Parts: sequence; C-alpha cells; structure tokens
Amino acid sequence: MGVEIVPTDAPVGAEIRGVDLSLPLSNSGLAAVDNAFNDHGVIYFRDQSLSPEGLLAFTRYFGDLQFNVFGEDHGLDDHPGIVVISNIEEGGREIGVKAAGSRWHSDMCYTANPPRGTILCAREVPDQDGLTLGDTCFAATHAAYDDLPAEMKERLEGCRAEFDFAGRQRAQIITQEQRERFPPVTHPIVRTHPVTGRKCLYVMRDDCTGIAGVEEGEAQRMVAALADHIIRPEFIYRHRWRAGDVLMWDNCTVQHLAIQDYALPMRRLMHRTTFAADAPPA
Ligand code: OGA
Ligand code: MN
Repeated sequence: MGVEIVPTDAPVGAEIRGVDLSLPLSNSGLAAVDNAFNDHGVIYFRDQSLSPEGLLAFTRYFGDLQFNVFGEDHGLDDHPGIVVISNIEEGGREIGVKAAGSRWHSDMCYTANPPRGTILCAREVPDQDGLTLGDTCFAATHAAYDDLPAEMKERLEGCRAEFDFAGRQRAQIITQEQRERFPPVTHPIVRTHPVTGRKCLYVMRDDCTGIAGVEEGEAQRMVAALADHIIRPEFIYRHRWRAGDVLMWDNCTVQHLAIQDYALPMRRLMHRTTFAADAPPA
C-alpha cells in the first residue's frame, strides 16, 4: 500500500495514510514520512496501535532519544524513555505530567541543543457528550517569519534571544541541580531549518528572558510582539485528537500549545518521546 500525504488547510500539518506503525518501516516508507515531517512540520497517523516498544523504535528512526527535565519523575514504568502526559490520578498520585504545554512554547528551548522533534501517542482523549477536548495547537514559525515586513527581517538578522531555565515563572520550582544543568543559553531569533533551509522564528514570550545586546524594556516589547505575531490564527493548525493517533512535530518549524479545557473525570493520557537534533541548531 502506498503512503498518502494529506496536508491540512493550515501552513503546517499533514495526515499520513497507508502506514501501520506497529510494523517496521521500509526504507522508502521512512523516507516518505521523514520528507513529510520536514515539509509539514507536524504529521499524524490515525488509528495506530503502537506499543511502548513500538513507540521507542519509531522514535529512533529519527534520532537519539532525548529526555525532558519535567518528565524525570513521570517516565513510563519499564520504559523510562517514554514520558507520561496525563491528568489521571492513581492512588492519590498524578501518573503523568499534568499541565504540559499550557503556554505557547517550543520544547526545551532553554537548553543548548533542544530536541528536533517530539512524538505524542494518544492513548485516552477526553470528550464531553461526544465532543473531543484537549486539542493541541501548532503555529507555523516559517510562515510567521515569511510574513514579517522586510525591515523587521533585517533587524532580526544576527539577533540572539536569551533563555534561562531558572528565569521568570520557573524560579520557584526548580532544584539547584537543575539550575546548574541548564545554564542560560542564547539561540538565533531567526533559525534556519537544518533540512529545508527555511527561516523560522524562535521566540517565546514565557521562555525568552531577553535579547543579547538589546535594552531590557525594548527586548521585552520585541519578544512580546514577535510571540503574538507567531500565533496569528492564519499560522495555526489545531489538532483534534483521537485515541490511536500518533503525532510528531518539529520544534524548529512549530510552536505548540495544549488546550486545557477538560478535567477529571474526563481523562487524557499521552505517551511522549523526544529525539535529538544532530547538532546544535544554527
Ligand atoms: C509536550 C506538550 C502538549 C499536549 O508534550 O511537549 O507540550 O497537548 N504537550 O499534551
Ligand atoms: Mn511541549
């Protein structure tokens, strides 16, 4: 059966049909999936039945497994490479990371080498009277860049945004050990995608603590303006989950946001992996 790529109406996102992820991918199948991933930034497969081992094997096609700091306490039993994202409580304990991604962000942007991609495998999806809740939104950072006025593109050339894991809202909740493991870093505001060569905006309101060489007030205004620009509705694909979905996104091409519009007894359960980029992003 051939692989079929069905793009969404948005500047990112495509459904991949004709692939059973519980079976090993052929070379040509993998090439088709990898190309679609690079072209569309977010790809998803419906109606999969992927075991934890299968999810890990699928992830490794794309790169080395990478671990998320907030997942350290919520690895899947026997499969620490998989992080549980969930609102479910068992025995008075949360079984997973509950509020993952409730602000627009790109995963682990506060590290020197953020993961190239993240994969979510939907096990349980909340719904109310047959209406699905707990969508995830993805904003196309290359479309946002392309849409900038020429003067702004020029101004951003060579600019680096500062990220500090210990800064802003996290200051209270991180440990000294984490603080030392994640010293402040800078990344280019305009990232060049390692495969497509497209220019992508890489600024987040909550995670960027400044812009190198720019006065603080001005830097904050620029970060806020760019962050708002990236999430204009025309750049967004909103994914409505179904149990059995496997979805992966590219942390350079998109930023994402989890819509937290559900609560127990409605349950949401995702298995998550991340894979590394070959080299620090340019
Ligand atoms: C993540 C994340 C969003 C979601 O896992 O990195 O932001 O909808 N998740 O669960
Ligand atoms: Mn995230």
